[in-house]
Amino acid sequence: MGFMKVLVVGSGGREHALCEALSRSPRVTKLYCAPGNGGIDDVAECLPDLLASDFDRLAEFAEQNEIGLTVVGPEAPLVDGIVDYFTECGLTVFGPSKAAAQLEGSKAFAKELMGRHNVPTAGYETFTEYAPARDHLEQLEYFPVVLKADGLAAGKGVIICEDRDAAIAALTEMMEDKRFGEAGATVVVEEFMRGEEASVHAITDGNTLFVLPTAQDHKAIFDGDKGPNTGGMGCYSPAPVVEGMQARIERDILIPVLDGLKKEGIEYRGVLYAGLMITKGGPRVVEFNCRFGDPETEVMLPRLENDLLEVLLASATGTLDKVGEPAFDARPCVGVVMASEGYPGPYQGGKPIAGLESAGAMEDVLVFHAGTRKPEDGGISTAGGRVLCVTARGDDFRSARDKAYAAVGAISWDGEYHRTDIAHRALGREATA
Ligand code: AMP
Ligand code: GLY
Repeated sequence: MGFMKVLVVGSGGREHALCEALSRSPRVTKLYCAPGNGGIDDVAECLPDLLASDFDRLAEFAEQNEIGLTVVGPEAPLVDGIVDYFTECGLTVFGPSKAAAQLEGSKAFAKELMGRHNVPTAGYETFTEYAPARDHLEQLEYFPVVLKADGLAAGKGVIICEDRDAAIAALTEMMEDKRFGEAGATVVVEEFMRGEEASVHAITDGNTLFVLPTAQDHKAIFDGDKGPNTGGMGCYSPAPVVEGMQARIERDILIPVLDGLKKEGIEYRGVLYAGLMITKGGPRVVEFNCRFGDPETEVMLPRLENDLLEVLLASATGTLDKVGEPAFDARPCVGVVMASEGYPGPYQGGKPIAGLESAGAMEDVLVFHAGTRKPEDGGISTAGGRVLCVTARGDDFRSARDKAYAAVGAISWDGEYHRTDIAHRALGREATA
């Protein structure tokens, strides 16, 4: 593998963590991020005018600047076929094709594939019309039940319904009131699974798996995992609940999915992210994503000791079997998301952020930016719902958590909000271990 210039596409905390890890590669001669954000600037040249949806201008940039590898962060361009477009242009790109990205882009596609290849997941039915869906809910015996808009809905298209009335109301919202637009034209009605959730990410070229450290995120907005779901309010790695299950997860979930896709004519390259429920009967799939999790990436990649460029390039070029075994720092990482008050609902942006430098200088702390920008008059301002992910590592979860919250305490802006109990499950296990 030679030396090369790399382009990362996206603008969140995930892309900051990707850029941070790539900047550690001795083979990256120049790193760009399109469009990037106020913090990615520190490790990559940001291209604020180049949006992730602008495939032709991104490809033109990659051609003109002799980019050796483009790494796509978010799901939307993947589901829309950016990898196919780049490949047709003769460019090397990390991520799944449009056909493969259906695994995230259509929940019905993912459920049917799992069904055909015996991958453990919740039982379900798919509906494209309101009346039969309503009949199904009228006759259902077990609650809660989970309703899912089929298409991409930014993590918001899933409603857990405690009883029949709630389920019918949610169905009406999705199919009749079209709250999620076209994403809700098809609805998946799914069995509710009990257990603890965990995320397993594997980088693959369709044949070989490079499994990243496990992680667990906190989706709910309030402490105690209460309130509406967000993109993720904090995360930690590893996830003790899945430790020791990796071989089983590969055998029962990851390999059958890759092999199943291949049998159906689809080679999956990129990162395959399995959202799992660890039930009494073992791990079962909640969902697949076709990209890195956010904030999972911000706690997984700081632990990675391999050269990330080498791994991503091998995935893109089908040579992952030539890459060494995954190697990770054994110390856990805890990441706390600092958000704008009001998120996941409406919030105000443009608030100046104080304390970034002193937090970033703390030992074992990395401050990843998500919704931030650099205003003309200097400093850094908020520009999104999730603003920062403050990650720290420690010898155990307690010390990682304490260091992360010490850094969070050093950062402030008007209307800042964060959860105060990130990693409570891992800490509970540590206390009883
Ligand atoms: P998804 O977008 O499919 O990951 O769903 C969002 C969240 O809803 C998941 O992270 C789970 O917390 C929850 N969820 C989804 N499906 C189920 C299910 N079948 N049983 C229990 N919880 C679920
Ligand atoms: N943290 C959840 C996700 O990235 O989908």
